[in-house]
Amino acid sequence: MIDKLLNFLEVDAAAKRSGKILSDLIAPQLDGIIERFYARVQEFDINPHVTDKAIASLKSRQKQHWIELFNSQFGEEYLRNVRRIAVRHRDIELDPMWYIAGYMRLKLAFIEVIIRSNFPVEAKGHLIKALDQYIAIDMALALGTYDTVVLD
Ligand code: HEM
Repeated sequence: MIDKLLNFLEVDAAAKRSGKILSDLIAPQLDGIIERFYARVQEFDINPHVTDKAIASLKSRQKQHWIELFNSQFGEEYLRNVRRIAVRHRDIELDPMWYIAGYMRLKLAFIEVIIRSNFPVEAKGHLIKALDQYIAIDMALALGTYDTVVLD
């Protein structure tokens, strides 16, 4: 199933190489980006489970997930993790509308990092395209899991 999804989104060798570049570029900014993300989620009162205490551990778990997404080449461990993460969001009854909007807010912050980088314009375009592919995969797998998977 993952191969079909990767093929559909045309995730080829070049896109996979871009994953490593995205990771190197975005990882150093992730702490600040994720902190601002949860502050925004709290400000908008989106889900009661996003407490100050939860945020402390969520910051490192979410950071780890982005780094794994960009580097894992979509292996078994990544697939297991993405299913577990989706089930956690389902358990806290996160409305898919907010889940998707959350992904998009984070994506916009990542695009800002790409825009501010020193890569030539064309390379920035390729990185944004690859970023979209990575996020589409994570989102498709996460939301595709919402109604189907039961964890022990
Ligand atoms: C408005 C949108 C979101 C809200 C309100 C939200 C809220 C939460 C909450 C409350 C948890 C803790 C669940 C638990 O441990 O029981 C959680 C876990 C997590 N969230 Fe989100 N989340 C949102 C979007 C996202 C997005 C877009 C990502 C990026 C992929 C993400 C990544 C994670 C990760 C990696 C965990 C840890 C899951 C684990 O390993 O146990 N979240 N989220």
